[in-house]
Amino acid sequence: MDLNEALYTTRAMRRVKPDPIPEEAVKAMLDAAVRAPSGGNNQNWRFVTVTDPALKAALGDLYRDAWKILQNTVYKKAYERAEAVGDTQTMRIRSSSEWLAENFEVVPLWVFFFSRNDPTGASIFPGVWNMMLSARGLGIGTCLTTIAGFFKSDEVFEVLGVPTDKGWVNNAAISAGYPLGRWGTAKRRPANEVVFSERWGNRPDWTVDEPLWLEPENYGRS
Ligand SMILES: Cc1cc2nc3c(=O)[nH]c(=O)nc-3n(C[C@H](O)[C@H](O)[C@H](O)COP(=O)(O)O)c2cc1C
Repeated sequence: MDLNEALYTTRAMRRVKPDPIPEEAVKAMLDAAVRAPSGGNNQNWRFVTVTDPALKAALGDLYRDAWKILQNTVYKKAYERAEAVGDTQTMRIRSSSEWLAENFEVVPLWVFFFSRNDPTGASIFPGVWNMMLSARGLGIGTCLTTIAGFFKSDEVFEVLGVPTDKGWVNNAAISAGYPLGRWGTAKRRPANEVVFSERWGNRPDWTVDEPLWLEPENYGRS
């Protein structure tokens, strides 16, 4: 796959089929993850793959609890506002996120990412993204999630048997499965609206009026 296609179309693909992910694909995604850079090349990471239905059920309950907390706190105002003004994009993300929470156990593979001795918390995310890009190349949809590890960390450690005295932190859990939806380019604020040139506040001389990688006709529909 063309690198830009992967960069532009690796979206939060939450709605997936229950079909299992073959071992070769699991290996490929995690081999890509460990190729990523980390601060000082410390590679202070561990990955727990979860496919077992009983474990998924336990983690699914934690994820749903975390999702409820998130909705009633951090996202409460944003969702109320979105409903009031008819912000369909936010409502779509909400409904897709709700699907993932309700169907946690349907997702065939979850990968829990752990790191330690990383004060910035940044070293794990190149690995996360490498896994997601590798999955994209294999036609597997992923979604980066953080809420279970953030709101239900102790419980996640207990379910997965992670030692609690070794400094591990659960940074993310990535869902992976064959997509129900179609691939497409992420809609974002254009770069020229969020980039400054030389000094804060100076707009660059350029604009990017449409994505620089363009989907071929009927992309993702066939
Ligand atoms: C740091 C981070 C944390 C995220 N946590 C969650 C999460 O806990 N649950 C979820 O459903 N999506 C989560 N997402 C996915 C975002 O909601 C998603 O990437 C964003 O809405 C853009 O969607 P798109 O890539 O499909 O355009 C997270 C993404 C990032 C980068």
